[in-house]
Amino acid sequence: MPGLTAPSGYAEEPPRHPALRINSKEPFNAEPHRSALVSSYVTPVDFFYKRNHGPIPKVDDISRYSVSINGLVSNHMQLFMADIRMLPKYNVTATLQCAGNKRTAMSKVRKVRGVGWDVSALGNATWGGAKLADVLELAGIPKLSSVTSLGGKHVEFVSVDRCKEEKGGPYKASIPLKQATDPDADVLLAYEMNGETINRDHGYPLRVVVPGVIGARSVKWLDSINLIEEECQGFFMQKDYKMFPPTVDWDNIDWSTRRPQMDFPVQSAICTLEDVDVIKEGKARIAGYAVSGGGRGIERVDVSVDGGKTWVEAHRYQKSNVPYVSDRAQSDKWAWVLFEATLDIPANAEIVAKAVDSAANIQPEKVEDIWNLRGILNTSWHRIKIQNSLCAARSNM
Ligand code: MTE
Repeated sequence: MPGLTAPSGYAEEPPRHPALRINSKEPFNAEPHRSALVSSYVTPVDFFYKRNHGPIPKVDDISRYSVSINGLVSNHMQLFMADIRMLPKYNVTATLQCAGNKRTAMSKVRKVRGVGWDVSALGNATWGGAKLADVLELAGIPKLSSVTSLGGKHVEFVSVDRCKEEKGGPYKASIPLKQATDPDADVLLAYEMNGETINRDHGYPLRVVVPGVIGARSVKWLDSINLIEEECQGFFMQKDYKMFPPTVDWDNIDWSTRRPQMDFPVQSAICTLEDVDVIKEGKARIAGYAVSGGGRGIERVDVSVDGGKTWVEAHRYQKSNVPYVSDRAQSDKWAWVLFEATLDIPANAEIVAKAVDSAANIQPEKVEDIWNLRGILNTSWHRIKIQNSLCAARSNM
């Protein structure tokens, strides 16, 4: 592997911010506390969730690092960082969300397999890099192609990290060629995150960013790009990150019956409060994030203080002094919106948030209805139980 290698163990992991909540040490999986998550529209790199399936690869010599383009394409190529940096650079603000976000809440219904996450397995960053559509054009594949002259219909991204799920092989995933060659899909080979060189945890020296799609398809530490006929046959495409109905469990699962999950559905979470917070009766600020996949904007966020009986529409925003209108050019279509509402909180309130996207998709009410054995895509209404402050005061006496 020229320039980029995967250590066999975890001895040389990069330093991380001590405030992160660690969900698993090896491989390293961590998220910020929810209260820190929505303090800025663009998530600082230190507070961006980290999701890994193996030890973090290391670049020994950046001048030797290259990405190869192989498979069902007439021009096989090897691109060095200088070649990628020569292409036009784009900055795309996009929210990356792990399909396992809010898994811990789903596991309370019934046991699920996977790393537990609170509500912060996502972050919003400005990714800088070359468009994949431009890179593939260098290899002779025109923009907006669905199939190459040799029959390639999918673009597979292969890394170098060693994952036990791949029996020691590298992490990989694919997207359809149509999406990869569509400049408006904004798929990037990113070398910057928030204006700085992307760091090791997030894919240095080069990662894929597939906006609007579950994070699992945004392969870090890119080593090769293969044009293939069928979608990638790797573990994370075929035996993981698929959405099953609540009736399927480990004794009756047939992985081949479902497609790999790509776009993520509409999602939201309240970040200024926790279960079971004790707050004084009176006004409180309820704030959080809402995001939808596939480039759909957020049309509305509804907030309730009585468990969903009555609702108030929250204020939505992205950048200051720019009104947020879903699906308008001035709004970042791949990015989350932050929301806030300051409301009177009754005693023992149950505070709820639900978002509606620009296609009028609404989050499902109950987590029970979308329970699935891998605990993915828990997009149910976010509920927070508040404890009566008078009772709390008494119990402290
Ligand atoms: N790429 C590689 N090579 N190895 C990985 O383990 N994890 C994926 C994806 N790309 C992963 C990967 C998953 S499941 C997610 S959610 C995102 O990276 C997380 O990206 P982040 O750690 O930069 O937040």
